[in-house]
Amino acid sequence: MGGVHVIEHPLVQHKLTLMREVGRSTKGFRQLLNEIGMLLCYEVTRDLPLEQIEIETPLTKMQAPMLAGKKLVFAPILRAGVGFLDGMLELVPSARVAHIGLYRDPKTLVAVEYYFKAPHDIAERLVIVMDPMLATANSATAAIERIKERGARDIRFVCLLAAPEGVAKLRAEHPDVEIWTASIDSHLNDHGYIVPGLGDAGDRMYGTK
Ligand code: PRP
Ligand code: URA
Repeated sequence: MGGVHVIEHPLVQHKLTLMREVGRSTKGFRQLLNEIGMLLCYEVTRDLPLEQIEIETPLTKMQAPMLAGKKLVFAPILRAGVGFLDGMLELVPSARVAHIGLYRDPKTLVAVEYYFKAPHDIAERLVIVMDPMLATANSATAAIERIKERGARDIRFVCLLAAPEGVAKLRAEHPDVEIWTASIDSHLNDHGYIVPGLGDAGDRMYGTK
């Protein structure tokens, strides 16, 4: 499908398998999510524009490439999106951060907002929205609508696992937003969980169930 990038890098796939395992500890789950965050950050920033600037090495002056334009904004969807953040900030330490607090109502599966804080100039920056799980896509579409209301126009979405239903909905509602994911799983179950999936990402990250 156009606009969807499935990251097949062996390190990503290996770590994802470890995360899916039901017996993985909270600590192990969180650490793996952080490591995969770093690897996915590498992929989602692969085509960032560069500009040549003049620098001086110990030997001579030279023209050398640097990232062009304004700094990135990383926008984790709380809670589980925070699991990606530290890994991404390791690679891009100067990025700004927008926090988007949403939870999925367990009965209706509608996303309910409880927090939003973003850099004032988000409209001028590339925004990378992140959440490990793209299930119904209710959370992702609500988060992207929210940052678009604030003027953001250059947006990418990164997740660990996606359901085909969520990919289709996000592409239909926000065709300008491309998706990076480590896997597109089989389907959603009757409770809106991704199958085979990895369960509830937030609960597994924080040991809340
Ligand atoms: C999970 C997950 C996503 C959302 C995905 O969050 O982290 O944000 O569900 O589902 P969707 O695509 O159907 O919207 P949850 O609402 O459980 O909140 P939490 O991260 O605070 O646990
Ligand atoms: N949210 C999760 O954490 N896991 C799923 O499978 C679906 C939504």
